[in-house]
Amino acid sequence: MTNSNLKINAGRPALIRSRIIFVFLLCCWLLALNVSRVEADIVWLDELDLSLTTQSWAEPHKNQSVDGHGLSIGGQTFKRGFGTHCDSVLYVNVNSNARSFSASVGVDGEVNSPRASVEFFVRGDGKELWRSGVMRAGEPAKPVTLELTGVKTLILEANAASGGIGADHADWADARFDVVDGARIATMAVPVEPAVILTPAASPKPRINGAKVFGVRPSSPFLYTIAATGDRPMTFGASDLPAGLQLDPQTGRITGSISRAGEYSVTLHAKNALGSAKSKFKIVVGDKIALTPPMGWNSWNCFASAVSEEKVKAAAEAMVRSGLINHGWTYVNVDDYWQNHRDSTDATLRGPIRDPRGNILPNARFPDMKGMIDYIHSLGLKAGLYSSPGPWTCGGCAGSWQHEAQDAAQYAAWGVDYLKYDWCSYKDIANGKNPDARDIPTWAESKGTNDQAVAAYPFLVMGKHLRQQNRDIVFNLCQYGMKDVWEWGASVNGNSWRTTSDIYESWISLYRIGFDQDKAAPFAGPGHWNDPDMLIVGKIGWGNLHPTHLTPNEQYTHISLWCLLSAPLLIGCDMTQLDAFTLNLLENDEVLAVDQDPLGQQAKTISATQSTCILAKDLADGSKAVGLFNLGEETQVQVKWADLGLKGKLHVRDLWRQKDFGRFKDSFSATVPRHGVMLMRVW
Ligand code: GLA
Repeated sequence: MTNSNLKINAGRPALIRSRIIFVFLLCCWLLALNVSRVEADIVWLDELDLSLTTQSWAEPHKNQSVDGHGLSIGGQTFKRGFGTHCDSVLYVNVNSNARSFSASVGVDGEVNSPRASVEFFVRGDGKELWRSGVMRAGEPAKPVTLELTGVKTLILEANAASGGIGADHADWADARFDVVDGARIATMAVPVEPAVILTPAASPKPRINGAKVFGVRPSSPFLYTIAATGDRPMTFGASDLPAGLQLDPQTGRITGSISRAGEYSVTLHAKNALGSAKSKFKIVVGDKIALTPPMGWNSWNCFASAVSEEKVKAAAEAMVRSGLINHGWTYVNVDDYWQNHRDSTDATLRGPIRDPRGNILPNARFPDMKGMIDYIHSLGLKAGLYSSPGPWTCGGCAGSWQHEAQDAAQYAAWGVDYLKYDWCSYKDIANGKNPDARDIPTWAESKGTNDQAVAAYPFLVMGKHLRQQNRDIVFNLCQYGMKDVWEWGASVNGNSWRTTSDIYESWISLYRIGFDQDKAAPFAGPGHWNDPDMLIVGKIGWGNLHPTHLTPNEQYTHISLWCLLSAPLLIGCDMTQLDAFTLNLLENDEVLAVDQDPLGQQAKTISATQSTCILAKDLADGSKAVGLFNLGEETQVQVKWADLGLKGKLHVRDLWRQKDFGRFKDSFSATVPRHGVMLMRVW
């Protein structure tokens, strides 16, 4: 028994041992199964097609920074991730297949510029799920982990947080999805919107468009082309024209000069085989010009440093041929690079800066400046030039430093109607770095007590010289909004002033600039306008032409917003390549009338949420222009009459479609597409 007991006793530990081994092996197997299940349930962002990213500079990189180095943020290195450049958008079709998303984000260590400022956003089905806050070079990575259950489309955005996109190298390090049961997810192209044309075709019958009020100084040369749509041939008339003016009935051009100050009420007429039209027009002879925001074209956003006389003449011809002149578009402005360059190797930019008497010399691409400007005038249009108060322009061409009086006189002799005057190298003078600038106020002297006077000084000088000329030259201050230029721009004879740094072609840039103008609104009015920079519709590209990256709805938002803001409208695209959609944006007379309204009020935000914004302004006829903007995915936007200071049953007209919606009590709401707008008139 003992033996058998012993046997039994001897057999039990073996059984236990084998059971333990069995349980151990089972655990190992289950663990292995689980590990492989976990691995299969992770999808790394760098495994997906990153080429579907849209970004404002360079190419997206897998496991590398945008410049092709290993990923590093704030001294920490990462093996995996996605290196991109602001403004960057990547759509991921997660299709409810992901439990969570996680990453560590920041500015890549290859950048150590103080200019770098990036904000990361994660959006799910149109809602903001997370934002990083502004991140700068050298800062440690910020971790993010987000629940994604039920989310279908995830958007990863890295946006320039302030100023431009310069140095904004953005990393999504260790970016990964925890997916449901090994499900697959994929990146997707940004959804393409159809470019729907909303502006109805102009009637073949005559219709007079354009500003209803026009300012001119006593005895200045007068040029106004009656803007009228309708079949040609068309003949024009004007009753009660003041003495000194003549109208060419074939071209509709009014020229001459008026010596006596005063207000003159004129009636303009246009007639063709199908009918006739008339319109009241007020000429105000006095101190003020630019009584409505200037409308025209500028060479910078399309040609940048590659501008030439042929391109400018072609733009002017296209302004007429496209019919834009019939909607009030007038100025044809040459930006930087009409002068000779400091040190360019391009032979067309080399040559003496000034003649022996100090007169500025155009470069070889502009062999006959006077001839070119005369030609622009002969088309019924006006001409503009660009300079800097410093020795050099932003592009390194000759500026007006110490030649201000001479340059103003030269512009007048050439027949210039508009000057954009760009701070650029004047910064060295304001910084006290130029030994020839002894009597000129500097930041150091001001010690922060009178900075506006330092900022205003160079514009005061040129403004004074422009006023001494015998022609009206619209004066645009370009200094990117420094020292609240809107507060003092008018006092230095400015007719408009840039309120922001340069616009670039992305929704973020448009949104940041366009919806941040309230601060300057009280300072806009007839003769003095806030300028949120030039238009980025059509074929643009700063020398590398391509269709704008803005979606069609973003372009409707752009034009609607600029018109609500009473902003100068300067087309930035290649005028010889205007497509039907771009023309539809630029020739809607009811929309343009919001910009050109004689009251000259700048719209202000009347209500806003994180994804919608409503702007409104009063119009001269007592009605209001209202824009319902959608900053996110398609949604309903509602405006309450009470928020407009109105009540009762009001008429609502859709300005893009030029259609009445009817009358609405207390409020109106519309479905507004992603980044789109409903622009309307309410009365
Ligand atoms: C600055 C201005 C631009 C353009 C360029 C020309 O950047 O803001 O609008 O005029 O200079 O060099």
